[in-house]
Amino acid sequence: MTTETAAPGTDRSFLFVLGSSRADGNSEILARAAAEQLPAGIPQRWVDLSGLVLPDFEDGRHDTGTWTAGETEEDLRRATLAATDVVLVSPLYWYTVSAQTKRYLDYWSGWLTAPGSDFKERMAGRTLWGVTVMAHEEEVVADGMLTTLNNSAAYMGMRFGGVLFGNGSRPGQVRGDEAALLRAKTFFDREAPLARFPYEAAAAL
Ligand SMILES: Cc1cc2nc3c(=O)[nH]c(=O)nc-3n(C[C@H](O)[C@H](O)[C@H](O)COP(=O)(O)O)c2cc1C
Repeated sequence: MTTETAAPGTDRSFLFVLGSSRADGNSEILARAAAEQLPAGIPQRWVDLSGLVLPDFEDGRHDTGTWTAGETEEDLRRATLAATDVVLVSPLYWYTVSAQTKRYLDYWSGWLTAPGSDFKERMAGRTLWGVTVMAHEEEVVADGMLTTLNNSAAYMGMRFGGVLFGNGSRPGQVRGDEAALLRAKTFFDREAPLARFPYEAAAAL
């Protein structure tokens, strides 16, 4: 289900969650350009959601009885918990994350509330990042995606590194977005502050 490169001697590890509905898409190209800049000692794991047999999330949070996770779900949960940095690599679909990416996030709700779960405690302090490519040239139209990721990170007590934006529509077109490729070179160098909901950020001023 994944490809992984690992090297010892670091306490950071990145999970790249690919959420496009086509292989070798623009968002993956841009994410790989950013990932190339990570030091060799930092493990990277790549999971392509479209290659997984993962049913839609079923909300059993308030049911009695026990929820039995499937093998794929359990692999994903473990991969998520193993990462210090989770990178959602999603094309912009209808101004937000793709359905595949959203479904992965929906599973977080199940992992949060499973009996005896310490998912939230363990994810707190880790970092969420986003990488997206979209047809529209004005990044401001992706504010819905930015809000989804920032607020999700805030809810989880996570850091948020922001979203790396690129432009393109046809497969490979993002390779022509020189500004995005330049931003990719330093994207993961940036400080990722603890995420705050907008009302908290405003109160802190
Ligand atoms: C279902 C769907 C919805 C899309 N919605 C948007 C959108 O809201 N805004 C936009 O600028 N581009 C939109 N696009 C274009 C994609 O973001 C663009 O083709 C992108 O390069 C796809 O990335 P990928 O190659 O990684 O899949 C949409 C494409 C599809 C297939």
